[in-house]
Order: sequence, then structure tokens, then C-alpha cells
Amino acid sequence: MNNITVIGAGTMGNGIAHTFAQYGYKVNLVDISQDSLDKGMATIKKNLDRLLAKEKITNEKLTETLNNITCFTDLKAGVENAELVVEAATENIDLKLKIFADMDKYTNANCILATNTSSISITKIAAVTENPDKVIGMHFMNPVPIMKLVEIIRGYSTSDAVCSEIMDVSKSLNKVPVEVNDYPGFVANRILMPMINEAIITLNEGVAGVEEIDTVMKLGMAHPMGPLQLADFIGLDVCLAIMNVLKDGLGNDKYAPCPLLVNMVTAGKLGVKSGEGFYSWGHGSKDLIVADNFKK
Ligand SMILES: NC(=O)c1ccc[n+]([C@@H]2O[C@H](COP(=O)([O-])OP(=O)(O)OC[C@H]3O[C@@H](n4cnc5c(N)ncnc54)[C@H](O)[C@@H]3O)[C@@H](O)[C@H]2O)c1
Repeated sequence: MNNITVIGAGTMGNGIAHTFAQYGYKVNLVDISQDSLDKGMATIKKNLDRLLAKEKITNEKLTETLNNITCFTDLKAGVENAELVVEAATENIDLKLKIFADMDKYTNANCILATNTSSISITKIAAVTENPDKVIGMHFMNPVPIMKLVEIIRGYSTSDAVCSEIMDVSKSLNKVPVEVNDYPGFVANRILMPMINEAIITLNEGVAGVEEIDTVMKLGMAHPMGPLQLADFIGLDVCLAIMNVLKDGLGNDKYAPCPLLVNMVTAGKLGVKSGEGFYSWGHGSKDLIVADNFKK
């Protein structure tokens, strides 16, 4: 396997493209927006420069990695030669079903179709294709070039051969794949998102401020960053979408998203990607600055 297509050049897509390209795969990066492709490539370049500065890669590796990536705005052209597609477009079920139905027409029958969805059912996505045995979840963690885990999710019809091939591909990227079954939120977000949502509820109820909540979890539980900072990194829209999948899929109101999370997403406060969430991200320093809305 050598030809990989990544769909979506956002937070995750550019990291996935970067990682495959760095490990020698030829990558087609597809997005509907040229602006997202330009920003995605700029992020890849910035992250490679950082690796070069730390002497983790050579100048030749940096050039080779960038040369391994070709950008497309047309889905058909981007996927027709792919042996593996990793879809990392916006977390929206209708959008993903449409992309998979289209990819099913444009790819060859042996192509494995993987999705980086955080929570949407792999079985449901596979059901819109002719070959559901070739559909699988390949859930990378953010930031992709650094995080070791890939949660591999088997849909109801995913074949053993496809699962084992995707485990091997993940290992070839120097990652550690863990196989789990298709259930809402899988393992990672079934556990992580209720914790983030509870931190937002705690803030909303006035139990403590943004910095206090994050400090308790960092220093008290040895988490590398607090849950509100992590929510800003993940994207509040992504957090909201996952909570809704947990609530609907598990049929339990304990997963209801906090109204503050809903309001912030509606107001366009999405975290790092929009410049403001619980913290303000436009300040150009490494300091965490609590966003104006949450200042006491
Ligand atoms: N953000 C995280 O920390 C994280 C972690 C793991 C998994 N995920 C999952 O990864 C996926 C992508 O999330 P993200 O945070 O990168 O989102 P994002 O909003 O940063 O990027 C999404 C990209 O998809 C593009 N897009 C939208 N429709 C498209 C289409 N039809 N064809 C091609 N591109 C299209 C958008 O232009 C955008 O560039 C989601 O399924 C999300 O649940 C996110």
C-alpha cells in the first residue's frame, strides 16, 4: 500500500496527511475549500520546521514529506487511485454519508475506506457503501504527528483482513493501534467527552473559574492539560457533536451537552480554531489567557 488519500485538511486532516507523508506514503489531500488546503499545508510546513529545529528530522526529510503531498478540491480526482482513504472531514453525519456514498463510486473495489470520526457509527457509514467489509474507523488523536494512539474501530461488517491491514499500516506510522468495537463514542470519547462536559457544567454552575478547574485537573490528577484547554484544542463544535452522538446513541440524558457549550458553539466561539473558547488564542504568546466572557 502506497497511495493514500486524506479527506479534509482541517485540524486532523493536515496532521494525518503530514504523518503518512513523513513515513514515505504518497498522499492526496482533498478539501472542498482551497483556503483550508492552503492553511493545512502551511500548518504541515510549520510543524515540519519545528521537527527540523528539534533535529527530529533532516532537511531532506522535510522536503521529501512536502513533496509527497498533492492537494485536490475535486473528490473524484483525489480518490480514484487510492488504496486507502482516511476521511477527516467535519463531524456531521449527513456530510460523511454523502462522502462515503460518493467515494464508493469513485474508488476501486479493493480500496479500504477509513474514517477518523470521533463518534459516528462505522456500521452506519459502511451501510451506504457496496463493500461494508472494507470500511473501518481509524481514529487518530490530536496532534496527530505526536500522539501515539490510533483507535481502530471495527464496524459490524469490517473483515478480519481489513482490520489486520489497518493495524499494520498504523504500526508503519510508528503508532500504537488499539482495536475496539463500534459503539457510540467508541472508548476514547465515551470516557473523555463526559469529563469535558462535566468541567463545562462545573464552570456554568459557578463552582470555579476556568483556570481553577484546569489547575485542579492538571495538578491534582496529573493530566498534561486541563479539560477546558483540551476542549479548546479539540474544537467546541466537535465536542458538542460528540456529546449529541453519545446522548442519542446511548439514550441517556446524562450525556446531554451543557447549555453553555451549546451557546458557545452557536456564538462561534469554537476554541483555538476560531481564536476564542474558554481561553483567548489570538494573543500570540504561550500564556493561557482566559477569554473575556469568563473573566471575573
Ligand atoms: N479535533 C480533534 O481533536 C479530533 C480528534 C479526533 C478525531 N476528530 C475527527 O476528525 C474529523 C475532522 O475534525 P477536525 O477537528 O479536523 O475538523 P475541522 O473543522 O478542523 O476540519 C474539517 C475540514 O473538513 C473540510 N470539509 C468539509 N466538508 C468537506 C467535504 N465534503 N469534502 C472534503 N472536505 C470537507 C472543511 O473544509 C475543513 O477543512 C471529525 O470527524 C472529528 O470528529 C477530531
